[in-house]
Amino acid sequence: RGLLMTDREEIMESDSHDNAQSAKKNSKTSLLDSGEDFEVLDEEDIDDDEPPPLEDVGEGKVQPTNPENTNPDPTGQVDEWLDVLGNGQLKKKVLKEGEGRDSRPQKGQNVKIRLKTSLVDGTVVEEKPDLAFTLGDGDVIQALDLTVQLMAMGEEALIQTDAKYAYGARGSLEPAVPANAELSLEVKLLEATDAPDLELLPPAEKIALASQKRERGNAHYQRGDYAFAVNSYSIALQITESSSKVDITPEEEEGLLDVKVKCLNNMAASQLKLDHYDAALKSCVSALQHQPDNIKALFRMGKVLALQGEYTEAIQTLRKALKLEPSNKTIHAELSKLVKKHSEQRGAEQAMYKKMLGNPSDNSSTQKPRAKSSWGLSWKWLFGATAVAIGGVALSVVIAARN
Ligand SMILES: *[C@@H]1O[C@H](CO)[C@@H](O)[C@H](O)[C@H]1NC(C)=O
Repeated sequence: RGLLMTDREEIMESDSHDNAQSAKKNSKTSLLDSGEDFEVLDEEDIDDDEPPPLEDVGEGKVQPTNPENTNPDPTGQVDEWLDVLGNGQLKKKVLKEGEGRDSRPQKGQNVKIRLKTSLVDGTVVEEKPDLAFTLGDGDVIQALDLTVQLMAMGEEALIQTDAKYAYGARGSLEPAVPANAELSLEVKLLEATDAPDLELLPPAEKIALASQKRERGNAHYQRGDYAFAVNSYSIALQITESSSKVDITPEEEEGLLDVKVKCLNNMAASQLKLDHYDAALKSCVSALQHQPDNIKALFRMGKVLALQGEYTEAIQTLRKALKLEPSNKTIHAELSKLVKKHSEQRGAEQAMYKKMLGNPSDNSSTQKPRAKSSWGLSWKWLFGATAVAIGGVALSVVIAARN
């Protein structure tokens, strides 16, 4: 749930679990309601000779001065664009009427659609005879999540969307959509069924469902859509946390927990990208409650704490991570960076050199300007060696990948 929100509200939603409730309340004024407004317009008596409101003019197909043209098409076709968001960037036109308003699918239902996606020049980029997704979960591009809930069962509609509600500034490889591409979608709503009752869902299916939502989150993350990623991870988490009325084996329990911790870690990463440090910290803490030795959670928590200026705690956390994985260069680098920052914060430069060089016998009181220049040399050497080591790791990864 929760994709029908403005950007601002998405951000609020992703802020923290606690905020989710208030965000939902605030979304009362958002897209769903504007959708409702337009539904009313949609059904307005089009014999009315008032010109339609500006947002609804669309392609200017309506000619209110000519009553014959404003009569509904006797074949049941409605020749009018609906401006879904009121900004002209997402428009829907009914090509063939469906079963009526009551047959519209609800958010959270599983729907099946026939989809044909084209660029504005007519190039078809994707054709799906029966695409299934959960409505409003962010499983598909926003244009579909927003418009399919305005469709009646069996309805065929044409949707025109700005890149913003489709594949955005990055475009996509699969389907092949260039950057900033407006799209034209031909949709037929085929089916809508209630989502399965999570309490009765066999654990294996629960794991599969949660994993699917998590992968959706990963896809959003990779595209840089961090708020959408958080949304998908939250859905996955809810699935893993849902109570169950069916028997569950210890292995399945373990499997669910595993997905949950992965989601929490990925969620923390997304929240970090959104600069929601408190929320990210909560996610890490939650992950560590389940798996105290989870290196990813420790590593990310260290990062968050550092960003919050909690250097002492951050260093402690990263040391714990390093203890579990002593050869990890990323953790080493992050820790050195933190130790350095921490020292700077305390204004103790001598301590910084000592820790960076990892030379406990070094007596800072004897440090002279000359010592500083030798430090400079060692410093270069240290980073040169690190670069060589990382290069080696990269090379072995390449070799491993080829075999
Ligand atoms: C080091 O740890 C980080 C954080 O857990 C992880 O993302 C990274 O893959 C690790 N690197 C190696 C080489 O194991």
